[in-house]
Parts: sequence; C-alpha cells; structure tokens
Amino acid sequence: MTAEPLEIYLEQQDLERGLREDVRAGLTAAAKWLPPKWFYDSRGSELFEEITRLPEYYPTRAERVVLAEHADDIAAVTGAKTLIELGSGSSEKTRLLLDAFTRQGGLGTFVPLDVSVSALAGSTAQIAADYPGLRVRGIVGDFTRQLDRLPTGGRRLVAFLGGTIGNLLPAERAEFLAAMRAALEAGDWLLLGTDLVKDPAVIVPAYDDAAGVTAEFNRNVLHVINRELGADFDPDAFTHVARWDPSHEWIEMRLRATRPMRVRVLDLTVEFAEGEELRTEVSAKFRPEGIAAELGAAGFVASEFWTDPQGLFGVTLARAC
Ligand code: AVJ
Repeated sequence: MTAEPLEIYLEQQDLERGLREDVRAGLTAAAKWLPPKWFYDSRGSELFEEITRLPEYYPTRAERVVLAEHADDIAAVTGAKTLIELGSGSSEKTRLLLDAFTRQGGLGTFVPLDVSVSALAGSTAQIAADYPGLRVRGIVGDFTRQLDRLPTGGRRLVAFLGGTIGNLLPAERAEFLAAMRAALEAGDWLLLGTDLVKDPAVIVPAYDDAAGVTAEFNRNVLHVINRELGADFDPDAFTHVARWDPSHEWIEMRLRATRPMRVRVLDLTVEFAEGEELRTEVSAKFRPEGIAAELGAAGFVASEFWTDPQGLFGVTLARAC
C-alpha cells in the first residue's frame, strides 16, 4: 500500500509561534534555557541519526537489542490492531515491532507521529512499501499536544521509544503520562523506552562524543533560531557542555558562551557573560522502581520490564487500567 497523505495537525505557523514563545521564555530567564525539541530540523534530525551510530551512544543499540529479543512477546501480549509511534523519527527500530506483528498477523494500521515532516515523509513511504497490507497514517504533530487526536478503534499500542520521555522534566512527564492515559482506553498498551541510571563514566561520553557530533547537534538549535527568527547567534562562539546531575539523575546539555555576547532575537537583546551557560536539554535516566511508580500514578500497570543483557536500557510494556 502507499502511505496515506500526512495528516498535519501542527502547521508551520503553530511551530513558529511555539518557537517564539520558547525563545522568549527561555532566553529572558535568569538561568537561560531552551527546550530540546528545536534541535530537530532536517539537519538536526540527520545529526541525531549520526549520534545513534556513534560508538559512545549506547541507548539506540541497547534498545534495539531489547526490541529484537521481545518484539514477538509484545505482539502476542498486546494483540494490537493499531500501532502508534510517538516521536517516530526514522522509525528504524519500529520495524522490529512491525516484523513481529506481520509474523503474528492482525495489525492493521501504523500511525507514526513526529514534528519533522521530512523524517515522516521518508519513513511513511518506506514502511508502506515494505509492509504491504498495512495502512500507514503519518501524523505531523507534537507528542505533548496531539494526544487527543490519536486514532480510535481496535486495541491500540502506543510506542514511545528511544528514551525521549527523559527529555521531559518530572512535572512535564507526569502531565504527559496522564494525558496519554486519558487518550487511551482501559486495555490499551504503552511501550516505553527509558535509559537507565548507570555509571556516569558511561553516560557522559554518550553525550560528549570524541567526534564532536553531539556538540554540532547541540549548536544546531542556535542555527535553527537564526534561520527561523532572524537571530544573530554566533554558534561557533559556544562550546558544548554535557554534565551529569547526580541529584536529579539526569544529564544536561548546555552551550557555554566563550566570550561576552549580545544577541538580537525577536525584539530582545540577550546578553551572555563570558562562561555563561544556556541549558538546551535534560535527558533523565531512570530506575525500574521509578518507572513503575510514574506509570502507576498515571493509571498504567507495568506488566513487563526488559533490559538488554548489560542492563543499559529498559523497555516497559504497560497496560492502561
Ligand atoms: C532522542 C531524546 C533520546 O536524550 O538521548 C542524543 C537526544 N541528545 N544526544 C537523548 C540526544 C543528545 C536523545 N533522545
């Protein structure tokens, strides 16, 4: 089957308004910050794909090992008719699930949702070509906002992979999981990928690779703001910082100004002192008991929890109850 036309719930002007609001809020704050979702223009999405192939970046490979091992269980236990993938990107690992559902039979529709039109257009066309008989409905949207638009009818499995939930702050996570539960019916399923707490000597290099790809990915948010909002950031005047925060058990990416700077963006003049840092991403790492507790608080019951043999990455299969 050919993929159906992308359903666009997030228009260009919504995106731009969101970027303007985030830039205003984040760059006028005492401790400057920007949300990580603005990394992912087409160059940022490519840089992220490159990150997933770096020797230091273990999460993608570890999650793939878990999915390869348990995809048939996931298909059998859930018996899903519809697979929805949030923040689907290239949907590369999702093929392990689609293959398992194909062996089992019964899956009718695949619904990838992503903010990136370019990533979705490519992945929906490829998947539709490779899985004949599967209905592929790509949705351009923000997974924190479009949950009420998820397709209904038939047992659903929502996959939220890659550890992306770790990019939400704890309060945002609780709100997101509750909204997800509200969008589902009892008996529907959530498949959640989470990077796990481990020795920071393993985590930090994954966010500060020797080849400097993550540094370029980090600086890309400044290129996006320059292009979309006509700002005059000098991205090369910022160095990449990845720091483990042991109290929150998360890694933070920051951009550190190497000299005093004055940046024009929107109607603002934003001053950076030499050495001042702008937080661009939080990537939380989880413990199994914490995942189960957060899911429980949102109305899910964790029915399976799997890790790769090294215990680097966790995948939880939870049921809406
Ligand atoms: C795509 C959100 C899972 O937090 O590990 C990779 C993004 N940031 N390197 C992560 C990311 C820096 C990634 N996620």
